[in-house]
Amino acid sequence: MNKHMKAHYDVVIIGSGAAGLTLALHLPNHLSVAMICKESPLESSSYYAQGGVAAVLDEYDSIQAHVDDTLIAGDGLCDLDAVSFVVEQSPSIIDWLVDLGVDFDTRVSKSGRAEFHLTQEGGHRHRRVIHAADATGREITERLSDALGRRSNTDFLTNHIAIDLITGNQLGESNKAVRGVYTLDLNTLSAHTFSCNHLVLATGGASKVYLYTSNPDTASGDGIAMAWRAGCRVANLEFNQFHPTCLYHPSARSYLISEALRGEGARLLLPDGAPFMQKFDDRGELASRDIVARAIDFEMKRLGCDHVLLDISHEPSDKIRQHFPNIYEKCLAHGFDLTQGPIPIVPAAHYTCGGVVTDLAGRTDIQNLYAIGEVSYTGLHGANRMASNSLLECMVFGRSTAAAILGDRPTLPTTNDIPAWDASQVSRSSEDILLAHNWDELRRLMWDYVGIVRSNRRLLRAQRRIQLLQQEINDYYAHHTVNRDLLELRNLAQVAELIVRSALSRKESRGLHFNVDYPEAMETAETTILTPSNYMP
Ligand code: FAD
Ligand code: SIN
Repeated sequence: MNKHMKAHYDVVIIGSGAAGLTLALHLPNHLSVAMICKESPLESSSYYAQGGVAAVLDEYDSIQAHVDDTLIAGDGLCDLDAVSFVVEQSPSIIDWLVDLGVDFDTRVSKSGRAEFHLTQEGGHRHRRVIHAADATGREITERLSDALGRRSNTDFLTNHIAIDLITGNQLGESNKAVRGVYTLDLNTLSAHTFSCNHLVLATGGASKVYLYTSNPDTASGDGIAMAWRAGCRVANLEFNQFHPTCLYHPSARSYLISEALRGEGARLLLPDGAPFMQKFDDRGELASRDIVARAIDFEMKRLGCDHVLLDISHEPSDKIRQHFPNIYEKCLAHGFDLTQGPIPIVPAAHYTCGGVVTDLAGRTDIQNLYAIGEVSYTGLHGANRMASNSLLECMVFGRSTAAAILGDRPTLPTTNDIPAWDASQVSRSSEDILLAHNWDELRRLMWDYVGIVRSNRRLLRAQRRIQLLQQEINDYYAHHTVNRDLLELRNLAQVAELIVRSALSRKESRGLHFNVDYPEAMETAETTILTPSNYMP
């Protein structure tokens, strides 16, 4: 390893997606801020978001209707306070984005006024999804990064992966506050130590735990695993959302086909061209995501086929090309013309509904440690996230957490006593094949045993395999120099273990969690909360 670096900041933010960027932009200039991210600043799920941001902007819509739709999609497990808190702030979040220059699509109203074009997605009874064509995440993250680039108080540390949090009790102090974080510079492979007064996890979700996912490689559950190891509770991790429509093609890497296509009229068809969604839900193609993904899975297993079809070709070609220019081009590059006929699609892992338990200001169980965005469990999504509520959550909690940080003044003196990362007992591995094999085995078993439809037998089998994998990975970790593959695998195995433990503890089917051994929902909906052994209330 190369030279070890030590630095202190008022606030360290791990993650540069919509949540981290929003938070950084709401912190005042007098605070020193480090923003740490694994790849380039824009490489995140946020950047790839397509459909848009759910917000109450139409005169015929209402806060109550958005709240109700979110509660219905969440299948009895949403926290009403969290839902109201987020939805009520949706108009002001959009105003803030527009002020920063985010260029949302507009149209001319019947009365000749320019107004935002709102699209629709599953679970929404109104058109309320504001968007920038089919690349909303790119437009938002680019504008937020531009704004942050104009500020002098924030240092960007790209290609740095956070390894583990450092807490007071690990340092022998009598408090359980977060004191900093160890990171690995992926360019030089040197480990660094950052101390801070406040640390924010904005690390995104864990969908890479599944073999097929719509998410970029950054989504390896690092924040959930780090928070768990540090002593934070996690909740509702059994609710893994599978997006119903990803392009089925060997080189498409589960490319997402936005739900907005269905909002604009696309139909789901069996391979013989027959529609089928109406059999499963009166809302048809616009039923919530858990229902649509399960219906597709059911039909694929019933017919023994490897995909179903999505068809929007009956809509005007101009409309398709205008609203979905990127999806249109991507499909064309794979030999499918959206304007001419149906395209093959399959579900893929998309979103982690559970996460690190927080309050409405991002506070976790550890003093001065916050979690925002997909890494967190705020109570908003319940058993199934409604489409386009995630970017909204990222920005609402980015803002509320910045306010909390300003209020939560550090009560502890800055510490200089954090020991440097100790690599004296480890050596470089000459057997990376072991890591590569474990990666594949973990993601494959999660896909096969802990997917859209589950059973006790499959979950127990997954649990045994994961325990063995964790033993192997921990042993490897104890003896070898860390690298990105090893760190992410260790985190994914931890998150997989928590997902399966949560799934086994739920003796019912609800929302995204369907277990054939308990096909009904219980009368009372309970949140699954897991507590680590080092939790200090
Ligand atoms: P992310 O945007 O995932 O950012 C995570 C950041 O953390 C990255 O910068 C990453 O480098 C960093 N990071 C992670 N681990 C570490 C580590 N150990 N060390 C250092 N850095 C780390 N939601 C909507 O509401 N509307 C949509 O239209 C929509 N479309 C989507 C389309 C796609 C293809 C995908 C994948 C998701 C979509 N979602 C959508 C979901 C939404 O984009 C995400 O839930 C949301 O963007 C998550 O934002 P975030 O800031 O929490 O995390
Ligand atoms: C999509 O555009 O279908 C993704 C929307 C979301 O995940 O919220």
